[in-house]
Amino acid sequence: MRKVIIDCDPGIDDTLALMLAIKAPEIEVVAITTVCGNAPVDIGTKNVIKCLERLDRLDIPIYQGAKQPLKQPFISAQDTHGMDGLGETNRPINSRKTIEDQGAASFLAQTFAQDVPISVIALGPLTNIATALQLNPDMGRHMDRFVTMGGTYKSHGNCSPVAEYNYWCDPDAAALVFDKLGTCIEMVGLDVTRAIVFTPTLIEYCCRMDPDTGGFMRDITRFYVDFHWQQERILGCVINDPLAIAYFIDDTLCQGFDSYTAVETKGLSRGQTLVDRYDFWQKAANSKIMTDVDSRQFFKKFLTVLLNAHKETIEADLEKLQMG
Ligand code: BDR
Ligand code: CA
Repeated sequence: MRKVIIDCDPGIDDTLALMLAIKAPEIEVVAITTVCGNAPVDIGTKNVIKCLERLDRLDIPIYQGAKQPLKQPFISAQDTHGMDGLGETNRPINSRKTIEDQGAASFLAQTFAQDVPISVIALGPLTNIATALQLNPDMGRHMDRFVTMGGTYKSHGNCSPVAEYNYWCDPDAAALVFDKLGTCIEMVGLDVTRAIVFTPTLIEYCCRMDPDTGGFMRDITRFYVDFHWQQERILGCVINDPLAIAYFIDDTLCQGFDSYTAVETKGLSRGQTLVDRYDFWQKAANSKIMTDVDSRQFFKKFLTVLLNAHKETIEADLEKLQMG
């Protein structure tokens, strides 16, 4: 089992991503770090606890991180994820799970003080990663892999014409990480995540297959589905973050290319990823940019794991539902 630390800002799709990561047999989630993003960080941390309670995995340690971006004022995405970050389901916490005393950035900097077979999957703004990098400039060289959900290459942005939310929220952190991490940044951006639409048919399918888990998925995504309809006239919702987890597990799910990439920190193009695919700047590649995804394979994996189903059953059902 490959070990991972998940840095996240739950968040509806972060919660689905955590469910996938924790239940997937191929990986072991050794810690979860939280960052301000979709919701203020203390709300995000509560949502991690709610998720761990559901999965009966309160043993996984949680390290709370940044309350605000490096330089910009914090702007949450509660218009998209609800005031509670979980689609305004306002679920209670039933356990006494406590968070670790150490902060997220310090924990990350310390964990990667030497070579360790642990990877990081970042599902929110890169504030914790950037702060850890300031504490330990070599950390990238000591980790196994680094996967980030964020950015966009050719697809339009989701919070400005050119920027994706995670990098837009803390552009200085994203710029620092792309500049200084020192290991390949595997970027799962909007070019591929936009293809991952959790449709009303799939949501209903989940409810039929597993009323408890499916019902939870339906409840937390309802607000997000409404947002997608009003904003983009999409029926269903784009679940970005689970794709980063599924890609980490099976990197044949996405295809892309290696490139040097920088992030703009200010002005109209704040948060934009400048992907130098054609080598104008003659700089060594620091990233792999995903451009193509097999969405059917993604849903096969996602639903098999979340619904505790046989992959043959899911495959046959997806065929009938004309998923791809
Ligand atoms: C990203 O921003 C958040 O809204 C989602 O959780 C995802 O990580 C998509 O732009
Ligand atoms: Ca997220």
